[in-house]
Amino acid sequence: MQKAALAEKKKGRRIALVPTMGFFHEGHLSLMREARRRADILVVSNFVNPTQFGPKEDLARYPRDFKRDCKLAEQIPVDIMFAPRNEDMYPTSFRTFVEVEGWGKVLCGMTRPTHFRGVTTIVLKLFNIVQPDVAVFGWKDAQQFLILRRMVEDLNLPVEMVGGEIVREKNGLAMSSRNKYLTNEEFEDASVINKTLKKAFVLIKEGADIDAVRHFIIKSISQTKYGKLDYVDFVSRSTLEPLEQIKKGDTLIALAVFFGKTRLIDNLRV
Ligand code: PAJ
Repeated sequence: MQKAALAEKKKGRRIALVPTMGFFHEGHLSLMREARRRADILVVSNFVNPTQFGPKEDLARYPRDFKRDCKLAEQIPVDIMFAPRNEDMYPTSFRTFVEVEGWGKVLCGMTRPTHFRGVTTIVLKLFNIVQPDVAVFGWKDAQQFLILRRMVEDLNLPVEMVGGEIVREKNGLAMSSRNKYLTNEEFEDASVINKTLKKAFVLIKEGADIDAVRHFIIKSISQTKYGKLDYVDFVSRSTLEPLEQIKKGDTLIALAVFFGKTRLIDNLRV
């Protein structure tokens, strides 16, 4: 992959990368279309990265369908699907991790303390292998995108970072490979997450403060049949620090909600 990438770059071609863990849905495909427009060569990586899963998480049962992924990728069209083996990415001699200090311990990092160092490490490896000029990530995983953008700036990586908007199901639920774990009832119930964020947006426009909006969100999720709020936080997009007041253009409202054992995330940027 690296040889092929360096050869393309020598010919002056621009490379775009969309990192994924496969099992494509419309969210992934929209990022691929965005990346397609921005480069000559489109590479999509398809690798369920073990270092970003905690010991009690769903690595073994994470959904996979490589054949279906290949068919969907052809339609974009993707030029190269990079699907390395575990033992090639992490041979037994592997010892190096990269971490954006502090940022991986807040929000989703509170309950997934090693998750983001796994993400930054694999994405840095993918950048070194694929040599992209531009990489596209979804705002669905806002903390992931902000952390990766920080890494790119801190380590002077010559990669343009592009964020793609969240693609949603008809009922408003953000698309996710993990939605597959939901029962029909949970799936319908989970539409409350987006409805709540939309209403929160209206409240903010009407001048509500953070305490009032937080209260509203907690109450709204507690009124569902299956939803159990993991966290809701209001942080600065530039520092990831908690905000006391809504700061227009810099506010991230991020939340995670359990439906049964399935943990869903969503966010609102104001
Ligand atoms: P994965 O969950 O497969 O997501 C791949 C990319 O698709 C990420 O940038 C994610 O934010 C984006 N995405 C997922 N659902 C989306 C939606 N509904 N709308 C828009 N974009 C969406 O995120 C990962 O994989 C991994 O952590 C990875 C970055 C590949 C590192 O292993």
